[in-house]
Amino acid sequence: MKYEVECSVCGESSPNLLDFKCPLCGQPLNVQLRFDFEVEEIRRQDYTVWRYERFFPYIKEREIVTLGEGWTPLVESSGNVCFKLENLNPTGSFKDRGSTVLISALHSLVKGAGGYISEDSSGNAGASVAAYAARAGLKARIYVPENVCGPKLNQIRFYGAQVTRVSGGRSEVAEEAERTDKEKVYVGHILHPLFRDGIRSLAYEVVEQLGWHVPERIYVPVSAGTLLLGLIDGFNHLLQSNIIEAMPKIVACQTKQVSPLYHRFKNLGYTPPGKVTSLADALVSVKPPLLDLMVKSLREAKGEAVIAEEDEVRAAFVELARKGFFVEPSSAVAYSGYRKQLENEEVSEDEETIVILTGSGLKTTLKPDW
Ligand SMILES: Cc1ncc(COP(=O)(O)O)c(C=O)c1O
Ligand SMILES: [Zn+2]
Repeated sequence: MKYEVECSVCGESSPNLLDFKCPLCGQPLNVQLRFDFEVEEIRRQDYTVWRYERFFPYIKEREIVTLGEGWTPLVESSGNVCFKLENLNPTGSFKDRGSTVLISALHSLVKGAGGYISEDSSGNAGASVAAYAARAGLKARIYVPENVCGPKLNQIRFYGAQVTRVSGGRSEVAEEAERTDKEKVYVGHILHPLFRDGIRSLAYEVVEQLGWHVPERIYVPVSAGTLLLGLIDGFNHLLQSNIIEAMPKIVACQTKQVSPLYHRFKNLGYTPPGKVTSLADALVSVKPPLLDLMVKSLREAKGEAVIAEEDEVRAAFVELARKGFFVEPSSAVAYSGYRKQLENEEVSEDEETIVILTGSGLKTTLKPDW
């Protein structure tokens, strides 16, 4: 067996690719790989995520649904710092790595059953899943909070997805999206193991773009944790396959307002704000369902966690733009984490560092205040 989908808590294996939580205990599922990464297996002429097709054994080549995602530029900022431009993916965020894998794996199954997919997200994941559903000719329904508006919702609607507005908080939206209904197949990106698994490709790419060399540090913004977990899985796979000799130091960056991982990681208590008002409007998971998994994974990877104040996020966002990198304020959280660690001398300028720029500034509703 080349892979198995297994429960992260009880270990039960789950042979149905449509499962998004353990059929026995309801806890999150993980894809376990039972093969090595081999450089010779890369499809060298393919400059998309599908360059690594051989390492996603649950997907048949003829089933691939792609918009040309992945193989995003790794651009030097200054000295030893590079930015990975995930904002340049087809729908404007790193989520396309998850969507291409998720939709490629499931579209025939769903269509075959005459069904449609459902997802809960008013942001980048909703837009990305809607785009890949459109590409696959698959019907999609995206559940969003009642009061949501703005560029990401427009994007979801232009891709042709149905939008269902749900009153209440984020968990009510998720509950409604998950609620069983005739023909509905829930593929929510936060829980679905195949979405997270697609993010693995980011680790492969970074290491290949550096000539099979592992950077010392990587800064990522964290909300629900799919980016963090997928990235760690990818590096673990490379490590176990003897492609790299050590894990990079992975630094999970959050805003002070929305910092459940930071607090749990440091064994501190966390009380979420009554209402999230952060500039980083894509980082809103105050109670992420994958929190236990994130803490365990980040500890095992010997990573770190850092939080940024709102004025630090704004300053990082503007500084990135002034360097020519126009990204979402949520993406700037990773850069502000780096700036903060530099100031505190927790990292030196000599360390080879990568900051993942996760989403496009063209989607921001922020206006210049000058
Ligand atoms: C631009 C951007 N950056 C970072 C994240 C955080 O990713 P995750 O929820 O996987 O932690 C998100 C999630 O929505 C996002 O949209
Ligand atoms: Zn289980």
